[in-house]
Amino acid sequence: MARLGGLLGFLLFQAIGAYAQAPLYGQCGGIGWTGPTSCSAGSTCIYSNAYYSQCLPGGSNTSTTTTLTTTTRTTTRTGTTSATTAPTTTTTRATTTTSSLSGNEPATFTANPNIGPGGSNFRDSPHFRVYGATSTSAADAALDMLEAAYSCFVGTLGWRSPGLSYNDNTDDDGPWTKINIYSVSTLPGAAGVMHADYATGMAWLEVIHQYLTIPGVTVHEFGHGMHYHEKTWVDQGRTGAWWETVANFVADTFKTSPLCASARSQYGQSATATEINLSKVIGDSFQVIVDGSVDTGNYYEAWPFLSYLTYNPDGYSGLGTNALRNLFRQYANNSNETPLHTLARVSSTGVATIVGRYWARMAYVDIGHPTAGQVFPSQRSRLNYANLDSQGNNVYKPKSARRPLYMGANIVPLKKSGAVTVNVAVSGASLAYTATLSIRNTSSGATRYVNLSGGSASAAVASDEEVTFVIANTPANLILYDAFSLSSDVKNGLDYSVTITGATP
Ligand SMILES: *[C@@H]1O[C@H](CO)[C@@H](O)[C@H](O)[C@H]1NC(C)=O
Ligand SMILES: *[C@@H]1O[C@H](CO)[C@@H](O)[C@H](O)[C@H]1NC(C)=O
Ligand SMILES: *[C@@H]1O[C@H](CO)[C@@H](O)[C@H](O)[C@H]1NC(C)=O
Ligand SMILES: *[C@@H]1O[C@H](CO)[C@@H](O)[C@H](O)[C@H]1NC(C)=O
Ligand SMILES: *[C@@H]1O[C@H](CO)[C@@H](O)[C@H](O)[C@H]1NC(C)=O
Repeated sequence: MARLGGLLGFLLFQAIGAYAQAPLYGQCGGIGWTGPTSCSAGSTCIYSNAYYSQCLPGGSNTSTTTTLTTTTRTTTRTGTTSATTAPTTTTTRATTTTSSLSGNEPATFTANPNIGPGGSNFRDSPHFRVYGATSTSAADAALDMLEAAYSCFVGTLGWRSPGLSYNDNTDDDGPWTKINIYSVSTLPGAAGVMHADYATGMAWLEVIHQYLTIPGVTVHEFGHGMHYHEKTWVDQGRTGAWWETVANFVADTFKTSPLCASARSQYGQSATATEINLSKVIGDSFQVIVDGSVDTGNYYEAWPFLSYLTYNPDGYSGLGTNALRNLFRQYANNSNETPLHTLARVSSTGVATIVGRYWARMAYVDIGHPTAGQVFPSQRSRLNYANLDSQGNNVYKPKSARRPLYMGANIVPLKKSGAVTVNVAVSGASLAYTATLSIRNTSSGATRYVNLSGGSASAAVASDEEVTFVIANTPANLILYDAFSLSSDVKNGLDYSVTITGATP
């Protein structure tokens, strides 16, 4: 879902997923709900309002939660009925020709008005149908944007086509169905929402009119749709919160990435500003790496970790352009593992090393993202770096409320004068950790990373360099955790003492 808020509205699609099944007439979703999100056999989770979904008799128990569409679907659609918006099939749009598309995929998919409420006011492109837009130009702008996103993620990056049914196990023979997007006047507490039509196994989207052409909403929702059609993370409770992380990664990658540049230009789309939220990612870096807690969580903002895996500036095995697709495809089917467990198989590097270096690179937002690093200089002075308390004698300890939680970190910029040798020594750590001195040349922007080994490191830092101490909570054994319902083991913060000479926090 895309949550209404701020100017753009953000994105909330509550968990697809369940670690247990709710009973008939039990609650199965809603904002703040951390209980089961699937229903026992013979009942279906029916959306009632943003705060409440309930298991009602009938239907299939497969798939998602909060977004079945019965009760609230009374909103009058405001689409016009004039001749200019009468059913029109646009056949002139270019189709993608990228080689990773399935060989049998037709240039134009078949529309199905029974997915979602249908209607007579729509516009088509080869892979999409937009219903109910307030103008032809808005519909066409949305179609161009969606075709560009399709071209990037399905064409360039080889994700499974969302034109193929979730229920289809032999993809090469289709059928391929258009993805329906409904432009609507209102949604309860959201700017956009993805639904799944169980009978056809097709995702479909609703977006409030004013956000229809905003990629942070519509491409975000389409990201949920592609994620759904990749299948493996559906109905897995421990992937639940990560759906928002993935959808925001999709939207930001569409907007900013060189990976999508040719797809964007093919459909007249420009690169636009990154959505990275450094006050959250860096200011709250101590949080669990993906935390779906209501109000305080970071699951919408945590996507730069996925960008790091995708750009792979450290050249780790198994990562790079296809990292997220690999996380989908190598998910152990129906295991309810966390994406970090999958990551442990996708890359032989080890999750502790990957997460430790991700946070070390976040010291200067040097994660390979094309523009996030450019946002950092203007925002760094406003970020909350108050992580440590002095104990005297150059010894510091983390504030108890900011001890790094599971796979989170403390990022501690150090002050120095001129050329110095910085020594750091960690002792008394309560949990396993990965710590690094991140060093950046302030003229060239070049970075280097010095590992703490055996608890300490020493680095000569030149007068034209700056230095940051970074320490991440990286247990050797991954934890099976549900980001919507943090357990005590992931909320167990890393306590430590660090002695720092040559520079000060
Ligand atoms: C659906 O119901 C079947 C039969 O009771 C059960 O085995 C399966 O786990 C259920 N699936 C979900 C996602 O709840
Ligand atoms: C970034 O995150 C912070 C903390 O969650 C939030 O208060 C702020 O509104 C966010 N900024 C933007 C631009 O979304
Ligand atoms: C998961 O199941 C799908 C079929 O639905 C199969 O193609 C895929 O290889 C399986 N993935 C793994 C990791 O076993
Ligand atoms: C430092 O740590 C990183 C990440 O943990 C690792 O890839 C690298 O090999 C280490 N370098 C040295 C010199 O130990
Ligand atoms: C930092 O970068 C500048 C400009 O490229 C270079 O002249 C200088 O030698 C660099 N400093 C260090 C310590 O490498």
